[in-house]
Amino acid sequence: MLFQRARLHGSVVDLRVEGGRIAGIGDLAALPGEEVVPGGLLTPTLAEPHVHLDAALLGAKKPNVSGTLREGIALWAELRAGLTRADVEARARRTLKMYAEWGAYRVRTHVDTACLPAAEALIGLKGEHPGLQVVAFPQEGILRHRGALERWGEVVAMGCDAVGAIPHFERTADEGWRSVRLAFDLAERHGIGVDLHCDETDDPGSRNLEVACAEALDRGVGARVVAGHCTALHSYPNPHAAKVVELVAEAGLLVVANPLDNVVLQGRYDGYPRRRGLTRVDELWRAGARVGIGHDSVVDPWYRLGTANLVDAAHMLVHVGHLTGEDEIRRAFRTLHTENHLPFGGPPPIREGAEADLLWWPVDDEIEVVRLRPRPRVVRGRGGPLPMEEVK
Ligand code: FE2
Repeated sequence: MLFQRARLHGSVVDLRVEGGRIAGIGDLAALPGEEVVPGGLLTPTLAEPHVHLDAALLGAKKPNVSGTLREGIALWAELRAGLTRADVEARARRTLKMYAEWGAYRVRTHVDTACLPAAEALIGLKGEHPGLQVVAFPQEGILRHRGALERWGEVVAMGCDAVGAIPHFERTADEGWRSVRLAFDLAERHGIGVDLHCDETDDPGSRNLEVACAEALDRGVGARVVAGHCTALHSYPNPHAAKVVELVAEAGLLVVANPLDNVVLQGRYDGYPRRRGLTRVDELWRAGARVGIGHDSVVDPWYRLGTANLVDAAHMLVHVGHLTGEDEIRRAFRTLHTENHLPFGGPPPIREGAEADLLWWPVDDEIEVVRLRPRPRVVRGRGGPLPMEEVK
C-alpha cells in the first residue's frame, strides 16, 4: 500500500508498505493495483506506560461513591479477594484489544502483589503479547501489613519487568522513604527497572520523588526509573517544587502523569477552591525532564470511565495542565508515541527497511488528533506483537 502525501515528522512524504516493511519513503508513484491512501498523518504506534489491567472493567461491580482514592483502594481489596486467573486473563485480553484498536501495542501494567491469581494471569499473558510489561505493585504498601514484603518479592521473582512501590501509602514518611530504597535494592538484584506510584496525594508533605531521584542518581539508573502520578508536586511550596523538578531532570527518570484519574481522585479533601490533582507538566517540560502520559484506569474502582484511548488522556492533560498553546497540544500528542515508549526501549522507527509499525490518522495536524480523537488506521509489520484480533 502507498500513503501518498502524508505528514511524517513535519514533512509531507509518500510512504510505501510492502511485505510488512517500510519499502520506501520519498517521492513515490503508485504501482498498478496498489492501495493508495491519500493525505493524513503518520506516526509510530502508541505506548501505554501506566495501567492496572488486573482491575480493568470491574468498575461497575462496586461503584466508588465518594470518588476518593482511598475508597477505590478499599473496594479493590474486596474485589480482588474473589478474582480468578481466568477472570483476570479475560478482562486483560479485552482491555488489550481496546488498546490495540486505538493504536497502542505496548502496554505496561501494574499488578497488585497481594493477588497471586492476577500476577499469574498478567505475567502469563506476556507470552502471547510481547508488548506487555508487568510491574510488581504492592497496592497497600510493603511495610504496613505482615507478609506484604515477602509477597512483593515473590511476584517480582515470577518474572516482572519492574519493581513498584507506593511510598506515600506507607505508615510514616520514614517508612515511605525506606520502601523506595527497598524497591531500588530489589530491582538491582533482579536487573530490572523501578516504577513507583509516587506521591499520589495532595499532601505537600509527601516527599518521595526527591528520594527516588537521589537513589536513581547515586546508583546511575535514572533511565530505568519511572515515577507515576507525582501529584503532590503540584502542591509543594514553589521553592521546593523548583528543586525537585530540577532533580527529576538531572536524574533522567520518567514522570508519568495520569490526568484522567488524578483530576477526579485528587482535590477530594479541598472543598473550594479545589486543586487540579496533576503533576507540574509545564515546569517539568521547561526543565528538560521526561514526562509520559498514562491512562491508568479503564473502568475500575478508581475511575468508572475510560476507553483505553491514550489520546483521551492527552486531551485531559492539555485542559487540566493549562497546556493549550499550539506547541503544547502537539507535544502532548507526540508524547504518546515518543516518551511513552521509553520504558519499552524507545519508539519503533519509521524508516526505510524497518518493520511497518505505524498509525495513519485521517487528519493533517496533530492538534486535530487531540481535538477530534479519531480512530487511527493501524499498520502492523511481520513478527511484531500479535494483532489483538487474533488473540483468543
Ligand atoms: Fe496507577
